[in-house]
Amino acid sequence: MEKETLLLPARDLTADAGSIALAGRILREGGIVAIPTETVYGLAGNALDPGATAKIYAAKGRPSDNPLIVHIQAMEEWAPLVRELPKEAEALAAAFWPGPLTIILPKSALVPDTTSGGLDTVAVRMPADPIARGVIRAAGVPLAAPSANRSGSPSPTTWRHCADDLMGRVDAILQSRDCGVGVESTVLSLCQRGEDGRPVPRLLRPGAVTPDQLREALGTDIVVDRGVLEHLGEGERALSPGMKYRHYAPAAEVTLVKGTTEQYRGYLEKTARPGDWAMCFTEDLPVPGMPACPYGGAADHREQARRLFQLLRELDGRGAERIFVHAPRQDNVGLAVYNRLLRAAAFRVVEPQP
Ligand code: TXA
Ligand code: MG
Repeated sequence: MEKETLLLPARDLTADAGSIALAGRILREGGIVAIPTETVYGLAGNALDPGATAKIYAAKGRPSDNPLIVHIQAMEEWAPLVRELPKEAEALAAAFWPGPLTIILPKSALVPDTTSGGLDTVAVRMPADPIARGVIRAAGVPLAAPSANRSGSPSPTTWRHCADDLMGRVDAILQSRDCGVGVESTVLSLCQRGEDGRPVPRLLRPGAVTPDQLREALGTDIVVDRGVLEHLGEGERALSPGMKYRHYAPAAEVTLVKGTTEQYRGYLEKTARPGDWAMCFTEDLPVPGMPACPYGGAADHREQARRLFQLLRELDGRGAERIFVHAPRQDNVGLAVYNRLLRAAAFRVVEPQP
């Protein structure tokens, strides 16, 4: 599917207005464009045009039963996409939009089945990145945008990652800043109803908006879906289809190592062989037996999230055969980091004994 891919500078809404207008025109005419967001880069196409979403699936090599998130830039663009807007949804949008939260509701007839992966529901998010918002505005239509990586590889957090994966497969790539959040948005479903008739909020994918923040904004508890931390067995139905695929994986074999700095170091010392790399906390340095790349302080989950995918790609580039990652604590944004690492590691986790 070799095609010409335009590289369009887009760091500033005013200075790069020409790029943004051109991206808008390409999108309106049914093309696909890699765009920055605050979480990861997205591969955008007109969410209401099955022809455009078919191009997204093809360029990514993504299974077509894996639904796409629809991106909007103004509140009034939401209602036409869904059957109704419960007050819980409005409260969440008021608290976290624009920002890294995706909300799933029953879809309206306007949303094609190709966008929702055949589901009766639609995931919607309003990104905070000003370039993303400018492109949605310029396109004049809601934009379906999965992460702009080839299916299965780590999500892109720089425009160069998009070019590495998608050059020759998409119409344009916006050359904007590196993503500040670094992991994909929090995905929350409001589709299930409780006995009182109100939606039961269910976390399908953790992200920078944390479970505690969601509970506080809703004034109720939320359910954390089993798929967030467990491997769903073959044939088990994933509520979020994206959770069932091997995901975020570099070419190297990734292992998550739990425990203290001493336990982590002790494990590396016993295990090390040539081709190994450690992806550790700053506090773990120096580690024995292998080269190491720190991905943040043990308590700095936001820094870990920001660097995670970039480091996995970098270590692949350096020819790492095995990567041993010191596992983060599973609270706050650490839950999102752990969730992505678990998938990169294909659920390979070791817990060294003290
Ligand atoms: O931060 C993000 O969300 C990025 C940026 C580009 O906005 N996008 C992103 O899209 O991560 P993607 O396609 O890589 O991940 C979307 C996730 C998948 O796990 C998908 O299965 C799930 O959301 N999803 C989308 N629509 C859904 C629906 N109607 N019901 C359940 N899960 C849904
Ligand atoms: Mg993705």
